[in-house]
Amino acid sequence: MNALSTVHFYDQDIELDDFSNEILAGLSKPQKTLPPKFFYDERGSQLFTEITRQPEYYPTRTETKLLSDHAGEISELIGEDFLLIEYGSGSSEKIRILLDSLRPSLYAPLDISRDYLAWAAEALGREYPWLEVHATCVDFTVEFELPFESEKRHVSFFPGSSIGNFERGEAAAFLGRIRSLVGADGGLLIGVDMKKDVGVLNDAYNDKRGITADFNLNILEHINREYGADFNLSQFTHEAGYDVEQGCIQMFLVSTCCQSVSVAGRDFEFAEGEKIHTENSHKYNVDEVLEMAVGAGFLKAKTWLDEDELFGVFYLYSQ
Ligand code: AVJ
Repeated sequence: MNALSTVHFYDQDIELDDFSNEILAGLSKPQKTLPPKFFYDERGSQLFTEITRQPEYYPTRTETKLLSDHAGEISELIGEDFLLIEYGSGSSEKIRILLDSLRPSLYAPLDISRDYLAWAAEALGREYPWLEVHATCVDFTVEFELPFESEKRHVSFFPGSSIGNFERGEAAAFLGRIRSLVGADGGLLIGVDMKKDVGVLNDAYNDKRGITADFNLNILEHINREYGADFNLSQFTHEAGYDVEQGCIQMFLVSTCCQSVSVAGRDFEFAEGEKIHTENSHKYNVDEVLEMAVGAGFLKAKTWLDEDELFGVFYLYSQ
């Protein structure tokens, strides 16, 4: 990459074959499913950034305000001279709010979207010449190791309530994996979307401009292009709604007619009205988050909520 910048790029060689098998397995279930990580090709990452700017999508602006309001305090809790690892860095917009206060020795953005990550890391390196960036393309939903070594204390940053994509048990296990990765004397700064009024939640995933619908449908475009499928995007529609019992938003693509779709040489039949489940976005309350964190081996340091209690930022540390 740019020889003048301090940006390193590591490619964890995501196996297209494994991904193909995951897609085929998901579509073979009685309830057809596609894992949400397939949203994030380059266009999907762009559409997600666009979602975060929609008036109905309160999580990003609420978290952003929490991070900027409390950057000084967060920085004091974290301390100095550390490696900062961000899970799902996307456009690396959020870290910009914290970088001047946190001043990490090293910043390692992790993301599944290779080209988008490379672009975002390079832009960040240009803007923050003092920062050493170790961008890593990796599917962090499966076990992985950092492709570089650092003697520094490890602090993880997992913003945006991306933890919500995991089922509750998996979320707890994932926090345990973060705890192992940061080791002793580390930390985790995590943003989690709170349980709230169902109308507010439903609106956030059904924005008027239809950006969330485009984002949802783009998963099919991604699979068409990369995995040899022939989904007809005009024969699926976006559906999202909050399931109170499970405490999560569920997103689906609904087949508008009876149709057959070929994916990597295999045919899948869809009845009219049949749904592909594309995402769960779990919502938590403060106690649920802390219980999970403590179960994963973290100690609680501090919780910040906005005044409407829409979103929570938590700093957890390890001993
Ligand atoms: C990136 C998983 C946090 O669940 O709100 C936004 C993804 N999906 N709108 C979320 C998403 C539809 C987002 N996360």
